Amino acid sequence: MSRDKVIVIDFGGQYNQLVARRVRECNVYCEIYSYKTDLNKIREMKPKGIILTGGPDSCYVEGAAGCEKGLFDLGIPVLGLCYGAQLMMHVLGGHVCKAPVREYGKIEVIVDTSVPLFANVSEHTICWMSHNDYIERTAPEFQIIAHTDNCPAAAMQCVNRKLYAIQFHPEVLHTVEGTKILSNFVHGICGCTGDWRMDAFVANSVKAIRQKVGKGKVLCALSGGVDSSVAAVMLAKAVGEQLTCVFVDHGLLRKNEGDEVEEVFGPSGPYNLNFVRVNAKERFYEKLKGIEEPEQKRKIIGEEFIRVFEEEAKKIGAVDFLVQGTIYPDVVESGLGGESSVIKSHHNVGGLPDYVDFKEIIEPLRDLFKDEVRQAGLELGIPNRLVFRQPFPGPGLGIRIVGEVTAEKVRMVQEADAIYREEMAKAGLDRSVGQYFAALTNMRSVGVMGDERTYDYAVALRAVNTVDFMTAEAAELPWEVLGRVASRIVNEVEHVNRVLYDCTGKPPGTIEFE
Ligand code: XMP
Repeated sequence: MSRDKVIVIDFGGQYNQLVARRVRECNVYCEIYSYKTDLNKIREMKPKGIILTGGPDSCYVEGAAGCEKGLFDLGIPVLGLCYGAQLMMHVLGGHVCKAPVREYGKIEVIVDTSVPLFANVSEHTICWMSHNDYIERTAPEFQIIAHTDNCPAAAMQCVNRKLYAIQFHPEVLHTVEGTKILSNFVHGICGCTGDWRMDAFVANSVKAIRQKVGKGKVLCALSGGVDSSVAAVMLAKAVGEQLTCVFVDHGLLRKNEGDEVEEVFGPSGPYNLNFVRVNAKERFYEKLKGIEEPEQKRKIIGEEFIRVFEEEAKKIGAVDFLVQGTIYPDVVESGLGGESSVIKSHHNVGGLPDYVDFKEIIEPLRDLFKDEVRQAGLELGIPNRLVFRQPFPGPGLGIRIVGEVTAEKVRMVQEADAIYREEMAKAGLDRSVGQYFAALTNMRSVGVMGDERTYDYAVALRAVNTVDFMTAEAAELPWEVLGRVASRIVNEVEHVNRVLYDCTGKPPGTIEFE
């Protein structure tokens, strides 16, 4: 499939995935590559434009992340951002050094609105700056097109060579007209048509999968989460009955969730696939008996999941393809894409498939960011409640019950969580809060119900706002919502007599409560 492509060259800055996402918001397809990527490979990809990201180094220091001078002679438009801008100047003969005044935060930038990069941008515009170094002298032939009080060269261009550099970060939301600037670059300067649209992506993917699979057999582990659901539906649309989805219900799902998954993917649902639901909760509860330590619980759940899936896969026999719901941030974070490789610390159930007899892996969502996966899900007609599901950990409620997991405790946390979610939705907060759920503490305390003394469990409510799930802040929920949830939980959930709200951020807490 040929489509316009912009590539982002990653120098290790923290906003690099954001650059790619913003470009895609302009309906232009975009991929991230490490700065170590060979120039020939870049040339072969025939990108319509190249964006150099920010990064933590000082470009003039030995050993700093660099690039070949030839990158600027490809005839392809290049836009350098922050470190990328400094590097461009440094490599092409300008002078970069420590700035007399460090700029950090929202800064007013005065731009030359007559140049294509700043077309329709306000002359005085607020931008996000974060730099210790600055461009003291631009490279020859470059013309300065923006400045601030402390930064004489905040943006520059060399129109003949199609080179552009900006000191600030257009990808960050604090840069008020950032998307406009990126759009000016990818559309106005690179000439991308903006043909990256989810409907076309979905239609093309379905066609490509059909071709690739031929008459082959396909196996997919379905968790009910967004990624595996979207992947499964895409496969179902492409190859129908040749697809078998195995859904392991470990008994640690949220209330009614197993049935909801079955409703969509099972025989009464709209798709013509083979659906196998394995009700394995007894097995999981048995294995978890007496286990209190969270890491041990995670391990047991993960291993048992593999066992169950393996048994089912054996019944199905050899397959040609195994589906994985890998998404683009997984690709980048595993070090295959960009520079910012983070070792993934979470293992999802459905993780490593080396125990299944298959020939090839299909990863239909490999190019998509999470919000694009959701868009694809909507295109495919998947119900909203599945598409906009909150993140839910692979080990499920197993890590939302402090201490030993029992069927009784699973019931308590399921019911409390269902009430919490229902009230959050009623209050219109279900989409605006990042992640929220009920957990069951291991604490029992004295209460009074009617005339009776009780000695029962405390439920903890958690709600956080987060951008990247690496850090998070406790959400400030309206008191009346919390009050209603608390009162319903103690009234409706047997053996719960207290409700606590967790005000801890991450760090020092984690998002999950285990
Ligand atoms: P923590 O608790 O580490 O959670 O602050 C960060 C985010 O990751 C989710 N999480 C998991 N997701 N398997 C998953 O798929 C896991 O084992 C797991 N543990 C935590 C958590 O829900 C939050 O969104």
